Amino acid sequence: MFLVIGATGSVGREAVSLLSEAGEEVAAVTRDPAATLPGGAHVVIGDPSRPDSIAALPDGIEAVLLSPRAVGGAAAELLSLAARLGARRVVVLSSSTVEHPAGYRRFADHFRSVEQAVRDSGLRWTFLRCADFAANALAWAPQIRATGVVRGAYGDAATSPIHHRDIAEVAVRALLDSGHTGHAYLLTGPQSLDQRDKARLIGEAMGRDVSFQELSPEQVRRAMLAQGLPEDVPDRLLGSLADYANAPGPTTDTVERLLGRPGLTFAEWAADNAAVFATPAAG
Ligand SMILES: NC(=O)c1ccc[n+]([C@@H]2O[C@H](COP(=O)([O-])OP(=O)(O)OC[C@H]3O[C@@H](n4cnc5c(N)ncnc54)[C@H](OP(=O)(O)O)[C@@H]3O)[C@@H](O)[C@H]2O)c1
Repeated sequence: MFLVIGATGSVGREAVSLLSEAGEEVAAVTRDPAATLPGGAHVVIGDPSRPDSIAALPDGIEAVLLSPRAVGGAAAELLSLAARLGARRVVVLSSSTVEHPAGYRRFADHFRSVEQAVRDSGLRWTFLRCADFAANALAWAPQIRATGVVRGAYGDAATSPIHHRDIAEVAVRALLDSGHTGHAYLLTGPQSLDQRDKARLIGEAMGRDVSFQELSPEQVRRAMLAQGLPEDVPDRLLGSLADYANAPGPTTDTVERLLGRPGLTFAEWAADNAAVFATPAAG
């Protein structure tokens, strides 16, 4: 039995699906009583950041997939609960910023503190230090649908975005095979792309032109706050983009080494998601 924390997220959902396809039993924690998950996953209702809110977990947990965002400051508490139910190993969806700092320090510090709690837990660990997810570009969907233009700051900011399916495949290998214990893998997509490239590739996947229009960081911050987003959202985004405009984020071949096939490209992610960016037909 594998315990997935953050099971309704992009990586978590894919991992639940892959584990189920491999014939493994999964307990998937979500705050949402209406959540539906792939395979025959046992849905366990609760908030991972308040482990005492989690309904009874099944016994016989072998390993845990842990989302730092979902667990918040409660990693130690949650892992001691999992250990009491048998867990011996944990795979953490950490961030490349732990070893390649970018953006405000407090965001990287959260991932560092989760990694430290995992080290202190006594469980055997694998850290997946991920670059930015290709799926972050879904935040552009409303403006692409409405105007075909992405308005943002730091168009030159370059990263190697990773497809969540590649992260999930690596995570599942690390959950199933204890040979990955003690490794901190820096996982990125195969190509460094700036924001203009990403907008163009989404356009190519849709068969139309999508361009990037440069705004000042202050304009972007004001627009995000006007939409009601909490201040942490522009802080997280603009802080890291400013750094990636000065020096591109890392690119590694770790996905290819671990999976024995090339990492999925941003163009492939865009093709998978082209419908999300398309303007709905009128009427
Ligand atoms: N996006 C990136 O570029 C990036 C880069 C590096 C690392 N990461 C990390 O990778 C992990 C996986 O990301 P993901 O996008 O697949 O999904 P995620 O952000 O981990 O979300 C997964 C699920 O966790 C629950 N959750 C989210 N916020 C929560 C909160 N404050 N308290 C309690 N539960 C919460 C939600 O599930 P329910 O609503 O069903 O409870 C959500 O669907 C995250 O920890 C993220 O920080 C992301």
